[in-house]
Amino acid sequence: MDREAEPSGRSIAYSRSTTSRLMDLLDSNRQGNVHGGVIMRMVDEAAAIVAIKHSGRQVVTARVDRFDFWKPAYLGDVVSIECWMEYVGRTSMEVGVKVVAEEPASREVRDVASSRVIYVAIDETGHPTPVPPLVAASPDEEQIIAAARARRDQTETPRE
Ligand SMILES: CC(C)(COP(=O)(O)OP(=O)(O)OC[C@H]1O[C@@H](n2cnc3c(N)ncnc32)[C@H](O)[C@@H]1OP(=O)(O)O)[C@@H](O)C(=O)NCCC(=O)NCCS
Repeated sequence: MDREAEPSGRSIAYSRSTTSRLMDLLDSNRQGNVHGGVIMRMVDEAAAIVAIKHSGRQVVTARVDRFDFWKPAYLGDVVSIECWMEYVGRTSMEVGVKVVAEEPASREVRDVASSRVIYVAIDETGHPTPVPPLVAASPDEEQIIAAARARRDQTETPRE
C-alpha cells in the first residue's frame, strides 16, 4: 500500500477486536483449570492483532505492563480476549485487554483477567518505525485515551 495515501490518524474502533476459543484438554490441568500461560499467549496474540491493524506494520512485544488474573477459566469454557488500542506514541502502541470466560451451558460469564501490552512497530529492517496517531472518534474513546495518557504521565519510562 502507498504509505503516503494512508489516513493521518486512526480511531480505537478501527482496530478494536475480540477473539474467542474453546478451552480443551491441552489447555488445562487435571482439575480442569486453564493454565495461566495459555491465557497469556492468547492475550499476546490477540493484542498484537490490534497493533498490526492500527499500524499496518509488523510488531514486536516490548512490554507486558500489567497482567492480573481475577477468576479461573475452566476446561469447556469459551474464552474471549477483548482488545483495544488505548495509547499510541511515535513507534509504540499500548493495547488494553480484558479476558472473559463463558460456561456455554449456563451462559455464566466470568471476568478472568486483564492486561496492558505495549508493542513497537518495526520496518522491513527490524527497526522501530512511526505509526499513525490515535484519534478519538467519540467521547468514550476520548476518555480511554485521556486515562491512558494520565497513567503514562504518572509512571516511569521503560528504561529508567
Ligand atoms: C522493542 C524494541 C524493537 C525497541 O527497540 P529500541 O531500539 O530500543 O527502540 P527505541 O529505544 O527507539 O524505542 C522505540 C519505542 O519503543 C518503546 N520501548 C522500547 N522498549 C520498551 C519497553 N521495554 N517498554 C515499553 N516501551 C518500550 C520506546 O519508548 C519507544 O516508544 P515511542 O517511539 O512511542 O516513543 C527492541 O527492544 C526489541 O526488539 N526488543 C525485543 C522484542 C521481542 O523480541 N519481543 C518478543 C518477546 S520475546
